[in-house]
Amino acid sequence: GSHKRAGAVGRDMDMTRRPRRLRRDGVRGLVSETTLNASDLIAPVFVDATTEARVPIESMPGHERVPVSEAVARVEEVLATGVEAVIVFGVPESKDERGSRAWAEDGVVQEAVRRITAETDAYVITDVCLCEYTEHGHCGVLASDARENWEERRSDPGVAGGARTGGGLTVKNDETLDLLARTAVSHVEAGADMVAPSSMADGQVGALRAALDEAGHENVPVMAYAVKYESAFYGPFRDAADGAPAFGDRRHYQMDPANGREAMRMAERDAAEGADVLMVKPALPYLDVVADVRREFDHPVAAYNVSGEYAMLKAAGEKGWLDATESAYESVLSIKRAGADLIITYFAEDIARSLP
Ligand code: PBG
Ligand code: ZN
Repeated sequence: GSHKRAGAVGRDMDMTRRPRRLRRDGVRGLVSETTLNASDLIAPVFVDATTEARVPIESMPGHERVPVSEAVARVEEVLATGVEAVIVFGVPESKDERGSRAWAEDGVVQEAVRRITAETDAYVITDVCLCEYTEHGHCGVLASDARENWEERRSDPGVAGGARTGGGLTVKNDETLDLLARTAVSHVEAGADMVAPSSMADGQVGALRAALDEAGHENVPVMAYAVKYESAFYGPFRDAADGAPAFGDRRHYQMDPANGREAMRMAERDAAEGADVLMVKPALPYLDVVADVRREFDHPVAAYNVSGEYAMLKAAGEKGWLDATESAYESVLSIKRAGADLIITYFAEDIARSLP
């Protein structure tokens, strides 16, 4: 019959279904399931109080840290590509034990956000954490014996993990919440449209929601870094934002990459605390988790295509080992296909420029 394969091998196979029919030019677009739009993307912007000029970020080619005086110009570059939203990170002029420059009215993020929101139409999200602001580089208030505890464990050959061990619970959870809440309120009072707590303190979403409501900002949404893994892919960011821990690691507060079911409990908790958007971070190694959060929750889902995911494609592209533009597009498209509505990516401008 006509659906039988011509030729010798498998002559009797039924070839009724020929998926290639819909892959031809002209029809591909009609049957395409996923479309990337510039309005899906959020571009990270780094504002640095320690510099008077723009500084390229070596491990993230194409990205720079800019002084406050350049923040508006930087955001205008983003807007010119069609991307409408930015997430702002700050490098403060000084650091201390508790990270007090994080909630300073004249802090680097506050000053930058004040200018950006006054002079542009960008939708401005701020990352709310303490690691860029504390001397020790951890995402919260440190226990007084934290360093000692870490040094002891690190030199103890009997402790599994050796130098990589976090040294027990060194960041105090509940003492951190108030500082995060103050930081978020100060960002919003400077003009931020949305706040995104990333310290992985239990209760951070509820603490921010309560403080914002109390200050009269009940219409400002919270995007929770709900499912944030302790990932090796944050390396380039920590150079960019100068936020690497001075000792120890973040494994006692960020999630174990081995855990997928736990992600559902994290998202559930943040939803109950009032999160408006649920984020999964990183993106590419965790697309199963993005898809699960998409399926289990009706909240908008964000995914953070992190610095290491950017750096590896850029590096391979520079070596000529792959096409950085094509692989970036495919990566971000896949994040959308997995279920993300909002995508934070260092490729935002590149991709938006290439869209039809
Ligand atoms: C702050 C924060 C980090 C990132 C976003 N917010 C660093 C970290 O948790 O160590 C990582 C972003 C990236 O790698 O692109 N807590
Ligand atoms: Zn942090």
